[in-house]
Amino acid sequence: MISQSRATGSLSEESVDTLTQFPADFVWGVATAAYQVEGAANEGGRGPSIWDTFAHTPGLSRNGDTGDIACDHYHRWESDFDLLSELGIGSYRLSLSWSRLQPNGQGALNQEGVAFYRALLIGLKDRGIQALVTLYHWDLPQPLEDAGGWPNRETAYRFADYTALVLVELADLAGEWITINEPWCVSFLGYGTGAHAPGRKNMRDAVAAAHHLNLAHGLALVEFRKAAPGLRVGISNIVTDIVPASGSEEDALAVARLDAYNNRVFLDPVLLGDYSPIVRSVFAEFGFAELIADGDLALISGAIDFVGINHYQRVIAWAEVGAGFLNLRERPAEPAVTSFGWSVIPASLHEVLVRVARDFTTLPIYVTESGASFDDYVDPNGEVIDSERVSYFRGYLAAAGTAIKEGVNLKGYFAWSFLDNFEWAEGYSKRFGLVFVDYRTQERIPKKSAYWYRQLISDHRDQLL
Ligand code: FCB
Repeated sequence: MISQSRATGSLSEESVDTLTQFPADFVWGVATAAYQVEGAANEGGRGPSIWDTFAHTPGLSRNGDTGDIACDHYHRWESDFDLLSELGIGSYRLSLSWSRLQPNGQGALNQEGVAFYRALLIGLKDRGIQALVTLYHWDLPQPLEDAGGWPNRETAYRFADYTALVLVELADLAGEWITINEPWCVSFLGYGTGAHAPGRKNMRDAVAAAHHLNLAHGLALVEFRKAAPGLRVGISNIVTDIVPASGSEEDALAVARLDAYNNRVFLDPVLLGDYSPIVRSVFAEFGFAELIADGDLALISGAIDFVGINHYQRVIAWAEVGAGFLNLRERPAEPAVTSFGWSVIPASLHEVLVRVARDFTTLPIYVTESGASFDDYVDPNGEVIDSERVSYFRGYLAAAGTAIKEGVNLKGYFAWSFLDNFEWAEGYSKRFGLVFVDYRTQERIPKKSAYWYRQLISDHRDQLL
């Protein structure tokens, strides 16, 4: 429960002064992902995913942390959803665990998994909270990885089959869907650098995975339109703001190459219908052209209803011959102050939004993730005073408000994250939540930022009355 004394907080000096620029139908959300919060890894007929395998492999995740228990949301979702209600959250972005729904990656769905997600979605409806459902947030069933994973084109077809089966069971309970979360991390961290599951380090595989994830999105879209034409469907890509270290032409070209690798390989085909020449050229040496079959681009660029943008960082790039296949180096822009060492620069969100709206799409845009990790702790009063996060959200939401004022068709903002959770290879060491989780007791303690967000949402609603 939220006590009144804590709920009031010192909000006056911290209100977002651009509040008036948020449209009446602006969606105020928070986000999570299945493997990061659910736990219950061996319950309900769930099978192993690549993240179970990765996290259980010694040396791959920090301190050997795994998502086996995580926030135990599988057992605590009702009180978690009550907390969402108390915070006034309008929309909850969650993901479905593929390996809970279809443990082998093919064949009939696991009915216990279906029942779990039906209960979740009904639980949100009962509380008047909108659901934004992501079909794939990184937890590929291990049997599909054993069959080649995302570098294998077949995986894209398995994803389309999974989508079709999920829609039969769940389409009636959620209106807004995201096919895939951040194909960049899946392909380049999962198969290129190996920092994420499945931990492979092969750029040819990573590049193949990238195209197959785009294709998987396109194939899934066909299933949506066939089975449930009334649903609104989009994809969430991480969009990084990249600036040059100097005014030199070499650095400008380095920025363009990094942009092709980080952003354009995913934005171009979905939103512009083709891979641009720079994307084709940076990946040419890895056999990119041969991956693209006739008809792929038409599928990938099928009409969607909104664009999801996850934004975390501005980086500085400079040319350096021989530094990786892109011949460049990068570092976080200053100030890099989160516990991840990421930059906190509200203008970078503004820049990304304006750019996507100008160069890529007029569709509605949702910021489907934005947030920051800090070394939060429970103080002797039992409170978590995360002032840095409040100031982060104040800045980033103000930047979003400015973008709207300038004409960007931004329709919603999802704070990453509702709860502190299993932060992939960083385990439990990075806290992104509006709500603190004591992993030992599973106690939830809303942080100062949660109260601030609640106040912001409620001020906004009051203003509309
Ligand atoms: C994004 C992921 C999300 C979370 C944040 C911090 O890349 O989509 O699951 O880990 O980073």
